[in-house]
Amino acid sequence: MSAATKSVRFEPARKLKGSVTPPADKSISHRAAIFGAMAAEPVRVENYLMAEDTISTLNAVRQLGALVTVDESTNLVTVRGTGLRNTTELDAPIDVGNAGTLMRLLPGWLAGQEGRSYTLDGDASIRRRPVDRIAEPLRRMGAEIDATDDRLPPFTVHGSRLRSIAYELPVASAQVKSCVLLAGLVADGATTVIEPAPSRDHTERMLAAAGVTVHRNGRHITVTNVDELVLDDLVVPGDPSSAAFLIAAGVLVPGSRIQVAGSGTNWTRTGFHRIVRRMGGIVVGELEEALGEGVVGTEPIGDLEIAHGPLTGTVVEPDEVPLAIDELPLVALLGCFAEGETVVRGAEELKFKESDRIATVVDGLNGLGGDLEATDDGFVVRGTGGLRGGTIHSHGDHRLAMLGAIAGLASQEGVEVVGMEAAEVSYPAFASDIAALLG
Ligand code: S3P
Repeated sequence: MSAATKSVRFEPARKLKGSVTPPADKSISHRAAIFGAMAAEPVRVENYLMAEDTISTLNAVRQLGALVTVDESTNLVTVRGTGLRNTTELDAPIDVGNAGTLMRLLPGWLAGQEGRSYTLDGDASIRRRPVDRIAEPLRRMGAEIDATDDRLPPFTVHGSRLRSIAYELPVASAQVKSCVLLAGLVADGATTVIEPAPSRDHTERMLAAAGVTVHRNGRHITVTNVDELVLDDLVVPGDPSSAAFLIAAGVLVPGSRIQVAGSGTNWTRTGFHRIVRRMGGIVVGELEEALGEGVVGTEPIGDLEIAHGPLTGTVVEPDEVPLAIDELPLVALLGCFAEGETVVRGAEELKFKESDRIATVVDGLNGLGGDLEATDDGFVVRGTGGLRGGTIHSHGDHRLAMLGAIAGLASQEGVEVVGMEAAEVSYPAFASDIAALLG
């Protein structure tokens, strides 16, 4: 992350209008780079996300021996991989920066590199994010993992010959699921992950496209080991989690009518759209059934139309949480503007994100005049019809920085965001996209 702390003020907006294309999907870009590095043949990735997190992934796979070229003018990335079992031996740690997805997915691949060891480390925020959740299944598969205090980075993965397992995830986590599935590619036999509830399925889609047999039977996902991955060229859709900030702005600022073009519409990522609709916001044009029609690469994509609407509170239940996990801070913001109470349950995972998002969201929005209460597994928001404004700190968390910005546009007095540079992690063009909608 950039060293200097940048404070930016977001004044109350009159209305938003126009069309914006959100940045490329962060989750899918990470996977495109990692799977490209594992593949037997070069992979072209169109519309790769050029942001701090996903640049960390390009650097990590370069360290591991992949040849990566980047055309900055078109965001076209080409990855010439090492194949599944031939990563380069390293004597320096892999720096994952702020990227939790990189930190949790890569070890699945590295665990099967027999006789080679890899240390992963990152920034201050990464050093408080647990890795025991991936260490446990990888150890069961036969890898050795040494973590700080047995649960935190920096940590070292000692690659071994892996055996397949059936692993029941203790919490619905796409990162942990993906880690185990990647290890399964190089393990003996068939590896099964059992999810307590559906979470984003980009890994399953991309692996299937790369020739892996991926079976889903209810909550069970099974992959069979392979000799090689053969990936066609990939196109990354717009990121629904980044688009969510634009949607929230359109819904909250009276008189707004905006279009969000080319956003991913994978059902496992659009829980926020369903929550916003339930609260009374207007989000139309998403084609959940459009799998096949308008499919980009391995993922569905669509254009959305968003308009302001009066909001009422809602309850987000545990099953819905993984489908909107990164958008829950925005649900809290919408809750401040709604009539009645908004409750999020079963979201303890928020504590382990780029910041402890139960604490930072509740404290941050309370500091702007909201009435929120933290619970053990989420929060309760008492809607007051609006927010006064004030100052909010990002705590180095990109989603908190952008939350503060949107709160500012919808507030009575404006919001100063301290640490706005954190947005570079996922959405470098955030400020200019907002400026374009303000006209
Ligand atoms: C991600 C999965 C989610 C999400 C994160 C990205 C992924 O984490 O919060 O931003 O790319 O798989 P968990 O699956 O661990 O909840």
